[in-house]
Amino acid sequence: MKVVSIVGARPQFVKAAMISKVIRKKHEEVLVHTGQHYDEEMSQVFFDVMKIPKPEYNLNIGSGSQGEQTALMLDGIEKVLIKEKPDWMVVYGDTNSTLAGALAAVKLHIPIAHIEAGLRSFNMHMPEEVNRRITDHVSKLLFCPTEVSVKNLEEEGIVDGVHLVGDVMFDAVEHYGQQETDILQRLGLKPKEYYFLTTHRPSNTDDKTNLQNIMTALENENIIFPAHPRTVASIEKHGIELPDNIRKIKPVHYLDSLTLIKNAKKVITDSGGIQKEAYFLGTPCITLREETEWVETVEDGWNILTGADTEKIKDGIENFDPTGERSSSYGDGKASEKIVKIIENEL
Ligand code: UD1
Repeated sequence: MKVVSIVGARPQFVKAAMISKVIRKKHEEVLVHTGQHYDEEMSQVFFDVMKIPKPEYNLNIGSGSQGEQTALMLDGIEKVLIKEKPDWMVVYGDTNSTLAGALAAVKLHIPIAHIEAGLRSFNMHMPEEVNRRITDHVSKLLFCPTEVSVKNLEEEGIVDGVHLVGDVMFDAVEHYGQQETDILQRLGLKPKEYYFLTTHRPSNTDDKTNLQNIMTALENENIIFPAHPRTVASIEKHGIELPDNIRKIKPVHYLDSLTLIKNAKKVITDSGGIQKEAYFLGTPCITLREETEWVETVEDGWNILTGADTEKIKDGIENFDPTGERSSSYGDGKASEKIVKIIENEL
């Protein structure tokens, strides 16, 4: 069996780290990096620390408007598919790289396996919601991480090819979660004496008021803040002064990120993946969004949704103190093996 897999952005590197190893045990994989993320610390460092195979192709598309970036990827991926003639296309999650991969494949009648299918925020202003809805509707195999995601697909009339397998990001935390790095020492941090902040969603970073509101809420806390390049640019553009207690550092790689999440007093984020990682590692999460795809984290009481509301964020910092059980809604850590086996059997 020959598979083309598409990656482009950070969360996809994490998922590919788990899946590529399993595919390559018995099958041929052609890994395509679209180049959506291209800075050393946004891309190469993930391949190094997670020992992800070197991509056979790097399309070097880089940044652009939604349409431009997706169109250039579509063109590049189509050329690879025509040359490689795979049996399957594997796409991950909901980025523009995912959508471009799915569109290129479906038009060439190459069956698509979508990993992390069925997630919904019901907010069509998010590019990711558009990407995941379209990808789900053209996929042949849909690998759902949760029961809720299976139900979401059912409500859109998608039942064939749907498999509840668990979450590949949970597999990754099970695999890499014990390998703590020395990032706390390097940054002079003590366990449970700092908050871990990330924000990169356009709704928070492109909007000056929201970005300012978030920073205002955090002005009295010890914050470590690995900043996405988009966010760094927005802080400069909007002339936002970060108080000294918010320590802005370069983006961190996966193992440093897990170490920082695990040892943080609380996590404050608008990332999807980090909400789950906080939950898996038992750290309370304050989510800077109005809705989440990962509803189980909220239902179990380990995640609260504050949007960019200063008072709600402050209240979360002071009063949010979960202690309840965390359910096993995200599977048994063996999603990757299950996924590859199902693709094999389908062939
Ligand atoms: C993308 C995904 C998002 C995911 C995130 C993970 C889409 C629509 N969004 O968002 O779902 O959560 O990746 O991090 O696909 N930039 C750099 N260097 C880089 C990459 C980006 O400087 O290596 C800057 C550029 O100014 C670029 C901006 O960041 O315009 C946004 O990058 P982009 O890839 O469009 O989306 P992300 O916000 O990273």
